[in-house]
Amino acid sequence: MRALTWQGTQNVRVETVDDPEIVNPRDAIIRVTSTAICGSDLHLYDGVIPSLKPGDILGHEFMGEVVETGSASTLQKGQRVVVPFTISCGGCFHCRITQFSACENSNPVEKQDMSEKLYGHPMAGIFGYSHMTGGYSGGQAEYVRVPFSDIGPIVVPDHLDDDTVLFLSDILPTGWMAAENAQIQPDDTVAVWGCGPVGLFAVQSALAMGAAQVIAIDHYPHRLELARQLGASVINFRTTDVREALMEMSGGIGVDAVIDAVGMEAHGFAIDNILDVAKQKVGIGADRASALKQAILAVRFGGRVSMPGVYGGMTDKFPLGALMEKGLEVRTGQTHVQRYMADLLAMIEEGKLDTTFLISHRLPLEEAAKGYKHFKQEQDTWTKVVLKPGMANGGLAAGGNA
Ligand SMILES: NC(=O)c1ccc[n+]([C@@H]2O[C@H](COP(=O)([O-])OP(=O)(O)OC[C@H]3O[C@@H](n4cnc5c(N)ncnc54)[C@H](O)[C@@H]3O)[C@@H](O)[C@H]2O)c1
Ligand SMILES: [Zn+2]
Ligand SMILES: [Zn+2]
Repeated sequence: MRALTWQGTQNVRVETVDDPEIVNPRDAIIRVTSTAICGSDLHLYDGVIPSLKPGDILGHEFMGEVVETGSASTLQKGQRVVVPFTISCGGCFHCRITQFSACENSNPVEKQDMSEKLYGHPMAGIFGYSHMTGGYSGGQAEYVRVPFSDIGPIVVPDHLDDDTVLFLSDILPTGWMAAENAQIQPDDTVAVWGCGPVGLFAVQSALAMGAAQVIAIDHYPHRLELARQLGASVINFRTTDVREALMEMSGGIGVDAVIDAVGMEAHGFAIDNILDVAKQKVGIGADRASALKQAILAVRFGGRVSMPGVYGGMTDKFPLGALMEKGLEVRTGQTHVQRYMADLLAMIEEGKLDTTFLISHRLPLEEAAKGYKHFKQEQDTWTKVVLKPGMANGGLAAGGNA
């Protein structure tokens, strides 16, 4: 089959690899019909997540048709399913309390060492996301093996097309959980850093949960415009002093909740961010946390800090004093995707959530490397790239332009 493989920093290519096979009775094989490139994939592309090997198949946002099932799978051939990026057994302590992204059984023992040393506990399995999270082949491919297929994948109705439901695999639940973690109250002012797909879904979710005012922060005009169209007020951090603007927009008290939808590769011009860029390049393991630091300084006393943005290692000059003195509450984590899929699917069917507005480009799988390059280098207009294994070469921008 054809699949997108990682070869080294900012070097990916589509090549022919072995077809996946059923390994365990609970497995299923999915023929991928749509798969997306995520901001999290950029961390792999940029080489800032350790333990990838040349030839690894990337991709953790995907859906398709069931073509083969193990003897204990509850899926049936021909069903159309969306697969959560988190691989979860459904039966361990954490799965039973719906903390699916903390599953204890999905990362094989021989892959657990690195994350256990870094975090004190081994991580759960994630599709296409390095050997630290199980070394599973990802879904930016024609076919993929899905373990625990009786727990994860959700069957989707035929009248909803791929683009409408694909993001149930990650970014829609991630934006939703980010808003939930911000514990939004009806008269809240909420600020969201980052107008990438996760930030945009966090904006939409916060508004759906009844926030009075949502303020979105980025420096890309097109992405800010998408947030504005959802109903957010916007701040361009290149031209405006973010903290000052937020103080003004929150009556001088500070915003009630902040959402960091940027993560470890924040852009910024402060001296500590420039230092962090240099350290990240030479592998001194510093996460670039400038958006998070700014969020902690901008939130009011007793406010809530939600962090869907991914961090991997250590960060320097963290405002620990502000966190303590202001009595802030922090909630974060890889999304417990399986917890949210059914409810969000129902909301999509009821027309309560718009899931397609952010797709900027649809490309055939064969052009995946081009998708990564542009999504990295032209973030303003390449908002979200969907790859279609079955599509003829010469993909279309969402508006229909090549
Ligand atoms: N927790 C989870 O389970 C989960 C799931 C999916 C993605 N993520 C993470 O969420 C983050 C966002 O993902 P995405 O797909 O939207 O990524 P993206 O790269 O498309 O978007 C990030 C956005 O942040 C903006 N940005 C950078 N520095 C900023 C700053 N200092 N202030 C304000 N905005 C800034 C960028 O301009 C960009 O628009 C990533 O870290 C990704 O890894 C987490
Ligand atoms: Zn993702
Ligand atoms: Zn489990």
